[in-house]
Amino acid sequence: MTEFTLSVNQQQYTVDVDDDTPLLWVLRDTLHLTGTKYSCGMGLCGSCTVLIDGQAQRSCITPVANASGVEITTIEGLSDNGEHPVQQAWQDEYVTQCGYCQPGQIMNAVALLDNIPNPSDEDIDAAMKDVLCRCGTYQRIRKAIHSAAEGV
Ligand code: FES
Ligand code: FES
Repeated sequence: MTEFTLSVNQQQYTVDVDDDTPLLWVLRDTLHLTGTKYSCGMGLCGSCTVLIDGQAQRSCITPVANASGVEITTIEGLSDNGEHPVQQAWQDEYVTQCGYCQPGQIMNAVALLDNIPNPSDEDIDAAMKDVLCRCGTYQRIRKAIHSAAEGV
């Protein structure tokens, strides 16, 4: 076990875990930030996406040792009550179906809009294609990102 100091949603936490513990487990099991979802656990689906220094990263394949000294943002850190423009657009466009993939979709969309404030359909498809949705909400996600682009 090793002690790590993590900055998550602009709060400092000290955790005592094995070096190779995936960040996802630290977020969910140690810090009880369960908005970040576990699905494949192999970096393949994007459900566990968080922002690390503003870039979308898969927390299931990020060892906690690589998450110290950076700023981590989870879905809980976007806003207190879902009022972030991307979350608002998701609600306005009724994107969510079962919901399981949606925290990862939203975090990936936030990173996209930070990099490309007014993305084209092609930009959106390229950025979002690897975050999988078993419910097939891709068209509504695209629409919501366009509408969020006006509010971000
Ligand atoms: S749970 Fe991390 S990419 Fe699937
Ligand atoms: S909303 Fe069900 S998996 Fe995406």
